[in-house]
Amino acid sequence: MTAAAPEPKANMGQPVPRYDAVAKVTGRATYGADMPLDNPAYAFLVTSAIAKGRINSFDLDDAKRVRGVIDIVTHENAPKLKESKLFSNGGYAGTTIQPLKSAEIAHDGQIIAVVIAESYEAAREAANRVKVSYSAATPSASFDSPGTTKAAAKGQNAQFKEDPKVGDFAKAFDEAEVKVEASYETPTQHHNPMELFSTSCAWMGDTLVIYEPSQYVYGLKNGVAEQLGIDADKVRVVNPYVGGGFGSRGSMTPRTAIIAGIAKRLNRPIKLVPTRDQGFTIATYRAETRHEIKLGASRDGKLVALRHEGAEMSSRADPYCVGGTKTTTRLYACSNVDSLVSIVRADRNTPGFMRSPPEVPYLFALESAMDELAVKLNMDPVELRRVNDTTNEPIGGKPYTSRSLMACFDEAAKAFGWAQRSVAPRSMSDGDWLIGYGCAATCYPTQMAPSAARVRLQRDGRTRVEIAGHEIGTGAYTVIAQTASERLGVPLEKVSVFMGDSDLPPAPVAGGSNSTASTCSAVMMVCDQIRQRLFKAVMPNESLTDKAKETVGIGQTPANQAARSDRPLDLEKAFDALGVGVVEEYGEWKPEGAPLDSFKAMHSGHARLVGGSAMKDKIAYAFGAEFVEVRVNRFTHEIRCPRLVGAFAAGRIMNPRTARSQLMGGLIWGMSSALLEATEIDQRTARYVNDNLADYLVPVNADVPDVEVILLSEQDDHINPVGAKGLGELANVGTNAAICNAVFHATGQRIRRLPVRLENIEV
Ligand code: MOS
Repeated sequence: MTAAAPEPKANMGQPVPRYDAVAKVTGRATYGADMPLDNPAYAFLVTSAIAKGRINSFDLDDAKRVRGVIDIVTHENAPKLKESKLFSNGGYAGTTIQPLKSAEIAHDGQIIAVVIAESYEAAREAANRVKVSYSAATPSASFDSPGTTKAAAKGQNAQFKEDPKVGDFAKAFDEAEVKVEASYETPTQHHNPMELFSTSCAWMGDTLVIYEPSQYVYGLKNGVAEQLGIDADKVRVVNPYVGGGFGSRGSMTPRTAIIAGIAKRLNRPIKLVPTRDQGFTIATYRAETRHEIKLGASRDGKLVALRHEGAEMSSRADPYCVGGTKTTTRLYACSNVDSLVSIVRADRNTPGFMRSPPEVPYLFALESAMDELAVKLNMDPVELRRVNDTTNEPIGGKPYTSRSLMACFDEAAKAFGWAQRSVAPRSMSDGDWLIGYGCAATCYPTQMAPSAARVRLQRDGRTRVEIAGHEIGTGAYTVIAQTASERLGVPLEKVSVFMGDSDLPPAPVAGGSNSTASTCSAVMMVCDQIRQRLFKAVMPNESLTDKAKETVGIGQTPANQAARSDRPLDLEKAFDALGVGVVEEYGEWKPEGAPLDSFKAMHSGHARLVGGSAMKDKIAYAFGAEFVEVRVNRFTHEIRCPRLVGAFAAGRIMNPRTARSQLMGGLIWGMSSALLEATEIDQRTARYVNDNLADYLVPVNADVPDVEVILLSEQDDHINPVGAKGLGELANVGTNAAICNAVFHATGQRIRRLPVRLENIEV
């Protein structure tokens, strides 16, 4: 075992290498824009240079003179599309702003024309020659701009049903012995993954094939069909590999149906590869947020009052919000809780999911405030979490299915050397460098969604798993293959997994960290169906359910695991008894508590996640604790982060290697969200200024010298059949607060607005 492949502890799978590793490092993995098309035409987007107003006219003469130009599509001649429904209201799309529908401009960088040409270069050249006459109005850019509107999220966002509250906050806060009141702010951020937002569309008769990086092939298929007004079975979305998602590919963007419509009209496949900067405005992003936190505690550190008020930016058209108070009001024991989430509208593109959408900004505020409270109480921040730890969430009193928060704190504190901290700010240094230690909690809801799967087992043990899941870099192929291998008792190398194709059995959106729990539960169930058929053949008189249970490997107690090796199934004997060469089963799994229409929704591409804080009689979260060391130069104020340590508990760890990789990436991103990342907005024009990977700062190896991930053993029998909690979005939460808490310890200066950069250090 190596650091990359940690030794499995109890209730962990083997750290097998990635199923898709060789294909990826040898370049054989085909991404959307790699798919060969027959005689394609190339598209290049023209995007708006203003954020608000309308187009008076286009001058296309110069553009049309470029050799190889086939067509230039604007709102005056674009294929007519049906309305796309807003995702958060149960539809497919991430925005209701549909470009090329009228002359109106809703945001900077909106698609206003598509040039089609015989080559990419010709399309790009012509696009640069498109002249546009605008009537520009003054846009509102962000929170402090004139012309924004602000209103409660509840009542306008269908997903945001309630502002959690309990007890009498005002009275309890008023009477509290120790109080913290503070405002926090997080910036706009763009995920903009490595693979660009490409789309290739090819029609075969009346059937459309779309090659596009997507986190939800069933959603995209149904959404595009709805916009084109055709039967969803006539649309197929293919993407066996996706070069990063982070939420940006969870919902349909307007580009896909536009390209499909043009391909149909021209009767020719079309390939679109937008530029990096276009990705900042034709897809989604994490909007900026503001928070007011009030904490009241007794002298011994027990929270008696907690209020979290959040405000989030959205577009004029859509009431998008993440509403992280559902988590921050439930993390600690407290009898008097109040909260309010508001949406502020400006002339911007609609924001959307970005890795741990609610938890990243909302826990920044709460975990910073907890540190401020610890300072006021003169209490160790780890101990402050301990006295407020709880087995039941305070709003509804529901029990956590499992909660290893303090175990994570203790393990991470030990590995980090927290005990060596000298408590006073500015009391640790190394030459010119002030040293600061900081910590914070993280948590992420355990979510699941209905999923189907088809599994075929051959007499020789070769196994084929088919499921329209998504490999967005997380290790989905690997853990699904492991699940089938363990459950059927066949060697891993005999298992093939087919994903990323909407012609396969439906799987949910690869979002909300639900994929492993959902897809592996479905695969496990279908493998059991196969087992039952085989058992029935060889042991016709025994109870099938009991026999199937005896040989399981996943999510079960050690006692049952021991039974597994005793009773291997003789495949050849079973196939002989059945008199067949192949056994194939299809099945549909839904999580406990999923609504009645779950399977219908699953087939029609509607995401219906259950879990987290929204369950009836319980609440399910994964937890972790993060410790960081920062060094701030006394003279230049340069900030470095030499060490990140995180300990995490997330139920069954399917594969410690892929889990560690997810969590390590999360920690690094969490650090990045504190120290580097921010999309700068020109307040006069409502434009993103640093819309490229040179100016949008992300960490490189030199920024993260030492990252340590500790996986805790945890067993949870109350969440899903495989017993796994999502962890893809766990480690980039709270890290931003841990960094600011460490900056306070190093410098004595509390920074409440991200990102922390050297110009913000004043002491
Ligand atoms: Mo994740 S932001 O839920 O894809």
